[in-house]
Amino acid sequence: MAAKIIEGKTIAKEMREEIAKKVAQLATQGVVPGLGVLLVGMDPASISYVTAKEKACAEAGMASFERRLPADSTQEEVLAVVREFNADDKIHGILVQLPLPKHIDERAVIATIAPEKDVDGFTPINVGRMILEESCYVPCTPAGVIEMIKRSGVPTSGVNAVVVGRSNIVGKPLANLLIRKSLNATVTICHTGTKDLPSYTKKADILIACAGRAGLITGDMIKPGACVIDVGVNRVEDPSAAKGFRLKGDVDFDSAAEVAGWISPVPGGVGPMTITLLLANTVEAAARKAGAVSGKA
Ligand code: GUN
Repeated sequence: MAAKIIEGKTIAKEMREEIAKKVAQLATQGVVPGLGVLLVGMDPASISYVTAKEKACAEAGMASFERRLPADSTQEEVLAVVREFNADDKIHGILVQLPLPKHIDERAVIATIAPEKDVDGFTPINVGRMILEESCYVPCTPAGVIEMIKRSGVPTSGVNAVVVGRSNIVGKPLANLLIRKSLNATVTICHTGTKDLPSYTKKADILIACAGRAGLITGDMIKPGACVIDVGVNRVEDPSAAKGFRLKGDVDFDSAAEVAGWISPVPGGVGPMTITLLLANTVEAAARKAGAVSGKA
């Protein structure tokens, strides 16, 4: 195997130590960063994400305030919890776990989150600020991917970056961050409408797979020496696994690792970084509020 493994798990651990120091500093001012978590329904993957996020908060000395609503909740019931979180001084960051049930207007729910508590960076105001490079909260998965690239010493300036996937929460913001002057990559976004996907991926110095399709990217689609970041977390049936499934990325790891220069695994790659950036954004929100209250910022 040729590729260097980008261990998100290890980078996340380093970052969580930095975060714990900031939490301790805030504690001296009597501030405990708090995350309000809203989960609607019983989607197993969402339950497991939310549980992991709350556990990480506790480990970092932060508070989390969870509300679970049944899948048949009304739009108004969901909005009421968001408004309650907006008004609660103990809550500095709000996480509405997506996807929401189909009958709920997700856009309206996200738009109701107070922008200063939008630690997911999903509100239209934060998205606009991100594009304009103003002070904002950057969505956690894209921010985590960028940290992995930077901390692994992967060159970005002038390289070809190809993002496979155009979701609002990963693909679009990632492409946007990569074209910033500070990273300076030339970016192509591929999606289900792309004809001849390998012709794009084979030119990528940085290839980011966030399409949500298990094993979509194989070794023969990768430029030798490229940095390959796998954002996919797909549950594939596996009767031999204790839970009856295992997690598989969008990249076929074994064939890709033969060709790539760097590669991130699934699990243990992007997943722990997403959670870490959520903690970082929540601590930042608490610090900004503490600064504002003490008249600093
Ligand atoms: N569902 C999948 N990823 C995310 C995320 O980063 N934040 C939220 N709120 N929901 C998600």
